[in-house]
Amino acid sequence: MSSKEKVCVTGAGGFLASWLVNLLLSKGYIVNGTLRDPYDDKNAHLKKLENSAENLKLFKAHLLDFAGISGAIQGCTGVFHVASPLPPQAQLVSKDDRNTGEAESVNNDTVPYVDVRDTAEALFLVYEKPESKGRYICSSGSIFGEGTRSWKLSSRKLQDLGWNYRPLEETLVDSVKSYQDSGAIIRVDAS
Ligand SMILES: NC(=O)c1ccc[n+]([C@@H]2O[C@H](COP(=O)([O-])OP(=O)(O)OC[C@H]3O[C@@H](n4cnc5c(N)ncnc54)[C@H](OP(=O)(O)O)[C@@H]3O)[C@@H](O)[C@H]2O)c1
Repeated sequence: MSSKEKVCVTGAGGFLASWLVNLLLSKGYIVNGTLRDPYDDKNAHLKKLENSAENLKLFKAHLLDFAGISGAIQGCTGVFHVASPLPPQAQLVSKDDRNTGEAESVNNDTVPYVDVRDTAEALFLVYEKPESKGRYICSSGSIFGEGTRSWKLSSRKLQDLGWNYRPLEETLVDSVKSYQDSGAIIRVDAS
């Protein structure tokens, strides 16, 4: 990369976009990130990322706000368009639900998975490699359940470009640690 290349990441405070911004900053990129509300506390983590003070600039922009988005992509060599309106997710188990058992149940189907850090690395790889072309499937594997629905996905095209993914064990261990650190789950000793 030429030093200090500038790229834009839309929806910079989102789950995937935050990991991507983190990766880009760690690689020396200048990042223009768009947010609907730069002052919302949920975006405060961006200011704590390595190199963010010097290399991360945040822009207030709704996806349909032409002027806002134009300002954010000005001078950029690339745009990572990650912002996306998503359907409501399955309800997480709250501390109260653990006691009342009122959490929503989830089918025990076979599901494909990918570590969000590996997805961010895939986006970065596709951006950096001149030979990248067309669409890519980014999936590390499937977790097998007992349901009837199953998926067969291949990320061979992405792997041929140089993509690697973390072992499932690492993803699970890091996820649990992260949930514990955030207080989403609490450790209960077996004794
Ligand atoms: N999570 C993953 O591991 C993963 C893996 C592969 C692909 N993806 C894809 O990546 C995309 C983002 O997923 P995510 O998990 O990161 O979701 P997320 O955390 O909900 O992030 C979505 C982002 O989009 C922004 N957004 C939504 N509507 C907008 C609008 N009208 N204008 C501007 N910004 C808007 C949200 O901003 P606000 O904060 O203002 O609401 C938020 O920052 C989705 O298309 C998803 O399918 C995700």
